[in-house]
Amino acid sequence: MLRLGVNIDHVATIRNARGTPWPDPLRAARIAEEAGADGITAHLREDRRHITDDDISRLMDELRLPLNLEMAATAEMQRIALRHRPHAVCIVPEKRQERTTEGGLDVARDEAGLAEFIAPLRDAGCRVSLFIGHQPDQIRAAARIGAAVVELHTGHYCDLDTEGATAARDAELQALREGAALAHSLGLEVHAGHGLTFDTVGPVAAIPELAELNIGHFLIAESVFLGLAGAIGEMRRKMQQARE
Ligand code: PXP
Repeated sequence: MLRLGVNIDHVATIRNARGTPWPDPLRAARIAEEAGADGITAHLREDRRHITDDDISRLMDELRLPLNLEMAATAEMQRIALRHRPHAVCIVPEKRQERTTEGGLDVARDEAGLAEFIAPLRDAGCRVSLFIGHQPDQIRAAARIGAAVVELHTGHYCDLDTEGATAARDAELQALREGAALAHSLGLEVHAGHGLTFDTVGPVAAIPELAELNIGHFLIAESVFLGLAGAIGEMRRKMQQARE
């Protein structure tokens, strides 16, 4: 079965826009659970622009679903993760000025540093995931340093979902398929995410080696129109359809 992790960062973005306690990301996580999400993902960014430390504490204390904590490879984030010991920790590259996570981690460039960074997280019982592109050298490096999971960045594929970009989109999808097959053959659990929508999820969900998709911004945006449970239900339906 293909699992769905719902990223609730942008519930916090709306809350923080007005400095009110609402909308509450924990409430969103509970609704996501009732609507059939298999996990909750939250990115504690260094600038705390959406999810806050208090959100992570409340999610850890009160949520029944597994939490996938996305974070940069910094000493501060490592301390926070070791304090909470979430089910999974997904290491992402982070730049202050970016609007969202623009690319994957360069695992191949800093294998030794990342290996050292993830070792205590693994020892603490967290499933360590690395958010990377589909390049074979990155996938092989992730396997070498002992990550349990790689999450393949689907942002570029989703950006190509425009008229006239068919050939480039097909090539990107094929590269994602090959990346997923390679990662799986190396013993890694394979996830994917970033930028997925009702229109783009199908071909990605159909990749047989994928175990989990993490989807956030579109679901929260669509919940304005469909309600959060409605948006999650429709996404699940499209994922299921792609697997049949
Ligand atoms: N996976 C990872 C590793 C991410 O960093 C993000 C964005 O925070 C997502 C998935 C979800 O992306 P989106 O919000 O575009 O669905």
